[in-house]
Amino acid sequence: MATQAYDVVDLIRAKRDGGRLTDPEIQWLIPAYTVGVVSDEQMSALAMAILFRGLDPTELNTWTNAMIATGDRMDFSSLSKPTVDKHSTGGVGDMITLPLAPLVAACGVAVPQLSGRGLGHTGGTLDKLESVPGWRASISNEEMLAQLEDVGAVICAAGTGLAPADKKLYALRDVTGTVEAIPLIASSIMSKKIAEGTSALVLDVKTGSGAFMKTPESSAELARTMVALGTAAGVKTVALVTEMNTPLGYTAGNAIEVTQSVEVLAGGGPSDVVELTLALAREMLDCVGVDIDPADVLASGKAMDAWRRMIRAQGGDPEATLPVAKHSEVIVAPASGYLTRLDALSVGIAAWRLGSGRARKEDAVQAGAGVTWHARPGDRVSTGQPLFTLHTDTPERFDRAAAALADAVEIGDQPGVTGPLVLERIT
Ligand code: URA
Repeated sequence: MATQAYDVVDLIRAKRDGGRLTDPEIQWLIPAYTVGVVSDEQMSALAMAILFRGLDPTELNTWTNAMIATGDRMDFSSLSKPTVDKHSTGGVGDMITLPLAPLVAACGVAVPQLSGRGLGHTGGTLDKLESVPGWRASISNEEMLAQLEDVGAVICAAGTGLAPADKKLYALRDVTGTVEAIPLIASSIMSKKIAEGTSALVLDVKTGSGAFMKTPESSAELARTMVALGTAAGVKTVALVTEMNTPLGYTAGNAIEVTQSVEVLAGGGPSDVVELTLALAREMLDCVGVDIDPADVLASGKAMDAWRRMIRAQGGDPEATLPVAKHSEVIVAPASGYLTRLDALSVGIAAWRLGSGRARKEDAVQAGAGVTWHARPGDRVSTGQPLFTLHTDTPERFDRAAAALADAVEIGDQPGVTGPLVLERIT
């Protein structure tokens, strides 16, 4: 920590009144908060001031670097292959990491994918993979390096040592209504990604009802902010702004999303999941200068081989039968016509209420819980045809899940127009 101490109330007042924080002030503040010298009350006031006043690019760079400096940095320079990571800002049915990491690994690139658990309506990659019998999320740095060299792909829990300032600040923002500040989201995500030590990063910035950012404009602003932070830190960073008004694929949950990912690796799967997996894979390969078409690698079965090896390396059995929920209930179409809307947020909330997600960090998730939908926007449906199947081990959850889906769909006379999945590319 810098030796010069500041009065944190002066810093809060300065930001509240639209002023800027100096480098030494930020370099003192972040470690001081991490070790408890600055209180949660003071930091939440400052976070609220930042939500309204923002941080300029210099403040934001210094803020992000100060967060990185509170913890460890990983180093993949001993690997014989280039490293590239992908980060999604979170959506519904967003299991893309599962087929993507082994696919890019099968193209000869190392993919160190430090992932998180779900909180709220968006799912967590680790929760999904933990539905595979035996698979463990926590591995040592040595195991990670060995697996990256051997298999090429690792999906695992981030150690507590990476950017501990973010861990504390994110928990505080979660309970103080200050999550939705672009500089705070950008520094939170990028501090962990830069500390992780990847040489390149592809960001999937979701936009729409099921995403953090509800409009393409705010999502593009978040994407530009993160790309600028990555580039300033020497990480080649590209972002795609992608659609999240409609959930991806046909499932939201844990085991049911793993099953769908395996279908993609086997050469099938929902067309939107395949399209986004390939678009992100192309960006990842392009970032590290590998000129291979990932569609060919997917078709060759090599990505499936990499998946099996990746699961086995972390104790999992890729051939095991995945858990299935004890109870299911079907919701049928109330009318005939074309499905014109399938709302991602409603589906995410329903899956969460069925037990696939958690309300508090300590809660356990149900491996088999979730929602399957049987039609996507543009499809024709008939009265009485199954629209959703709800899955849970605890049937008392059905009513609240069904309530979340009450306004999730619209059925019209015309198929309507489905827009592109990738809305913008930002470098
Ligand atoms: N994910 C993060 O890691 N941080 C945020 O602030 C938002 C999403």
